[in-house]
Amino acid sequence: MPDLDRPKEYWGTRLGVVFAVAGSAVGLGNFIRFPGLLAKHGGAFMIPYLIAFLLLGLPIVFTEWAIGRYGGRHGYNSPPGIFRIVGKKTNRFFSYLGMFGPLICITVFMFYVFVEAWCLGYAWKYLTNTMPSASSPNFVTDFANPFIGTQPGGNGSLFIDPLNNSLIFLVVCFALNFFLVYRGLSKGIEIFCKFALPTLIICAMIVVVRVLTLPANPDIPNANVMAGLGYMWNPDWEKLAKAQIWIDAAGQIFFSLSIGFGVIITYASYLKAKDDIALSALTAAAGNGFCEVVLGGLMVIPAAVVFLGPEFLQSDAVQSASNFHIGFIALPSVFEQMWAGRWFGFIFFILLFLAAATSSIAMLQPAIAFLEEALDIGRHASIAILLFITLVGTYFVVYYTENQLALETLDIWMSTVSIYMLATIEVLLFGWVMGIKKGHTELMHGAHIRLPKIIMFTLKYISPVYLIAVFGFWIWGDIFQDDELVQSITTSIPAQVVIGLILLTATFILLIITDAFRRWERRSTEGV
Ligand code: TRP
Repeated sequence: MPDLDRPKEYWGTRLGVVFAVAGSAVGLGNFIRFPGLLAKHGGAFMIPYLIAFLLLGLPIVFTEWAIGRYGGRHGYNSPPGIFRIVGKKTNRFFSYLGMFGPLICITVFMFYVFVEAWCLGYAWKYLTNTMPSASSPNFVTDFANPFIGTQPGGNGSLFIDPLNNSLIFLVVCFALNFFLVYRGLSKGIEIFCKFALPTLIICAMIVVVRVLTLPANPDIPNANVMAGLGYMWNPDWEKLAKAQIWIDAAGQIFFSLSIGFGVIITYASYLKAKDDIALSALTAAAGNGFCEVVLGGLMVIPAAVVFLGPEFLQSDAVQSASNFHIGFIALPSVFEQMWAGRWFGFIFFILLFLAAATSSIAMLQPAIAFLEEALDIGRHASIAILLFITLVGTYFVVYYTENQLALETLDIWMSTVSIYMLATIEVLLFGWVMGIKKGHTELMHGAHIRLPKIIMFTLKYISPVYLIAVFGFWIWGDIFQDDELVQSITTSIPAQVVIGLILLTATFILLIITDAFRRWERRSTEGV
């Protein structure tokens, strides 16, 4: 018997949810962040990456789908509400922890939508043939950096001439995102993903074919497609001894599959009780893996090797660039040298934009669901509140653009630290509180495939240990040993502003949750 008697939303079709989840997973992570990490770590990266996929990625994917559908059956769609149900109603502890879901999603949205705007901006410039020449030595300083405001003294610069930088595109992206969620689950998100996902895959394939048929570059030794593939696939065993590569690999798996954000939990909660989850989960995860390793892996690195040479990937510019920044400074010179590069540039950046848009709308949904059921308000009111919160947050990201400090700080705190926490909580909740027996029964309910028991074993014992170990190493290695990071966080103003913002949003959510509890508990004693 559901606790809440709000009108329920469902997915329109059985495949709709797979498209939506895959759409949330396939994003900038697949096409920019993954190649960026590959460039940094080289071929050794694929080993910890695949291990993290098997030991963390897949088990957590199944966990999120199962917890989500279970919570939805009890009338909840947001992580705090669902954690409360799964964590036995009397226990508020898990529900408080569930607030990390909406919190992470909202804050990731605040910077992700900005990067989405860069993609749209670049696509527009290629389409209208107004992209400045990337072979000019001043391309980065005169165009790329001012376009996103990252140059020294760039804070606030985007507001000075908003029609001539990425700000105008940000406005378009914001409007599109909110328009789609306003239309609702099946009429907005589902329809958009069903169109955008196939379109972006076709675009990616066009670019992949172009890259794989590139002739070797006569000007640079070893600048050919095979060398590009070798860069990705020839392991360099020595690198595996460093903790950082394992942490980056696990982080990429989380980021790319959109796990640990509460998004899949929320999406799965709109399923009907008997809908399959096992096969859907596997399909969406496999689709994401294909887009990342096959499509993402075959585009950026080989193209960069052919046109810029293998040495380029080892250069300081690449090694020290932020995970997102790289595509925007390095790729234009690749397209510049390519035959019909203008059109391939357009196809590439429009595919990035579509991939980003299906992800950013997904980030809004957990918070919408949370505000709806916690404040007992309608969807439109909840969207209005969320619009206000995200506008304020994005304003700070867009203001503090120098060196991308605000964006990077949010990325570290949200995409890395907080998802580890939420993922660990989920795994413990599923494996130990709900229990893997009940969990397995839940997963198999309505399933179109049988899952081997080993997945359950992994979930209960291996994933939590792996998560805690990786997290421990990260805290130890990155936070305590990296004085620069600690310093930049404690002394730089934008970082403090950003952290303040996170704390403010957290307090806001905490207050709402405390109030929501009273209502939820009253409902369940009256209603059941
Ligand atoms: N998976 C997305 C990508 O690869 C990014 C992402 C991170 C995301 N967290 C999310 C998407 C939460 C939706 C919801 O780019």
